[in-house]
Amino acid sequence: MKDIFGKALIDYQNGNYTEDIITSTSISDEDELPLPYLFRSFSEMPKLEQQALKKCQGTILDVGCGAGSHSLYLQKKGFAVKAIDVSEGAITVTKQRGVKQAEVLNVLNETKTFDTILLLMNGTGIFQELTQVSKYLTHLKSLLKPNGQILIDSSDIKYMYLDDDGGYWQDMNASYYGELDYFLSYKGEKEVPMKWLYLDFDTLKLACETVGLKCELIGEGEHYDYLAQLEL
Ligand SMILES: C[S@@+](CC[C@H](N)C(=O)[O-])C[C@H]1O[C@@H](n2cnc3c(N)ncnc32)[C@H](O)[C@@H]1O
Repeated sequence: MKDIFGKALIDYQNGNYTEDIITSTSISDEDELPLPYLFRSFSEMPKLEQQALKKCQGTILDVGCGAGSHSLYLQKKGFAVKAIDVSEGAITVTKQRGVKQAEVLNVLNETKTFDTILLLMNGTGIFQELTQVSKYLTHLKSLLKPNGQILIDSSDIKYMYLDDDGGYWQDMNASYYGELDYFLSYKGEKEVPMKWLYLDFDTLKLACETVGLKCELIGEGEHYDYLAQLEL
């Protein structure tokens, strides 16, 4: 990983915002990811994220914190929050913004336990592919205190495969339709391609059941997106 994402966050944080991150996927063309969005305040967050933040309780782990916007809000509310990310740039920025506990760490290497674990902005993306979902869920489960919860959002992206006649063009023999290759570039520099997973709610629920987690749909957005609460 070249940490292009982290470089973009550092530029924005240092007042050097001149352009946005460009993303594309194996099934979609180039799109801009506006840097200010990653520094959003509570009022600028989507309703599902606001709902997740309102549900937080006890000690909190913010997985894949990015620029730390959710952690910052929760810390200001008086919660003890730990923010982790694999991106060094993201953690530098999260610390600069005032989050006290922020660490460069892959969630699979986290060992402490928490009352609430947050995975937001398509939290299932971190699982990368369907075959890895049980591994991540089993590990996340091990990080829960008794009565703890995992709050995670994602989208059912089946709509992206609809053609003009209302039929689906995906190859049903291919891998799960939410598994995408994700490409990111910033200021002309390309990141190493990544895998990014969108999980529909039913598939997430089934995966949760196989590892002994209860999974409840607690919110639905306007565009096939949802918020789920996972408990022991
Ligand atoms: C889409 S961004 C979301 C950032 C932030 N949660 C937000 O809502 O603005 C996903 C973040 O997850 C981080 N990430 C990906 N895999 C991870 C892993 N295994 N452990 C920790 N962080 C990870 C990425 O570096 C990136 O910052």
